[in-house]
Amino acid sequence: MPRKKIIAGNWKMNLTPKKAEEFVTDMKAKLDTDKVEVVLCVPYVSLHAVQSVLKGSNIKVGAQNMHYMDKGAYTGEISGEMLADMGIPYAIIGHSERREYFAESDTQVNIKSLKALKTGITPIICIGETLKQRMSERTFCVISKQLSIAVDGMTADDIAKIVIAYEPIWAIGTGKVATPEQAEEVCAAIRKQIGEKFGQGAADAVRILYGGSVTADNANTLFKMPNIDGGLVGGASLQPTFEKVVHFE
Ligand code: 13P
Repeated sequence: MPRKKIIAGNWKMNLTPKKAEEFVTDMKAKLDTDKVEVVLCVPYVSLHAVQSVLKGSNIKVGAQNMHYMDKGAYTGEISGEMLADMGIPYAIIGHSERREYFAESDTQVNIKSLKALKTGITPIICIGETLKQRMSERTFCVISKQLSIAVDGMTADDIAKIVIAYEPIWAIGTGKVATPEQAEEVCAAIRKQIGEKFGQGAADAVRILYGGSVTADNANTLFKMPNIDGGLVGGASLQPTFEKVVHFE
């Protein structure tokens, strides 16, 4: 069965709930398709408003993070249980900005991803190398380590449910997009590693996205590569041209 592509927007810390509501009200009809899975990962405070506007459409709403405990004394945190109760089907886990600014470790990414699966939320697990690591030819080694820790303790069935986003850090918000060949090479290596550990079925099922300066102009060449199953889009997901990213074909 061919893998359905996912075009996910990561709004990061942008738009107030009111502005979010306006934006999705405007974009709803343009982004609503069943050809690809469209997911908007919005700030927690906008989840409800965006979800209400998108009701009845094929567009899904996701969170950008979640805690690995169900509840307790974790001031300022939001649990997977809370998101699941709201009917939120996706959460980004381990984005490089969380790793960098909030000291999220590979182990935390693993625990959060396992918890997401247990809660019925699909984790979009982010991995990616820095420019320095790429320049010193450590890309594959870095990716392989991040991946193996992230999926530790998962089963082949779990793997079929998760989404992996390859986001080279040097391409995020820089306008320096990876070439389709660079992105494909890493996504193929990710799929190969999954296959070696979890079997061919899991490798064929897992969806691997590319993220980093995706725009309406480069989406088509990236997303038509055989091992790239769509994108995780930052800046461009906040623009009216996001419609063109979604309809990249
Ligand atoms: P940009 O698309 O703005 O480069 O951001 C990518 C990203 O971080 C998506 O998670």
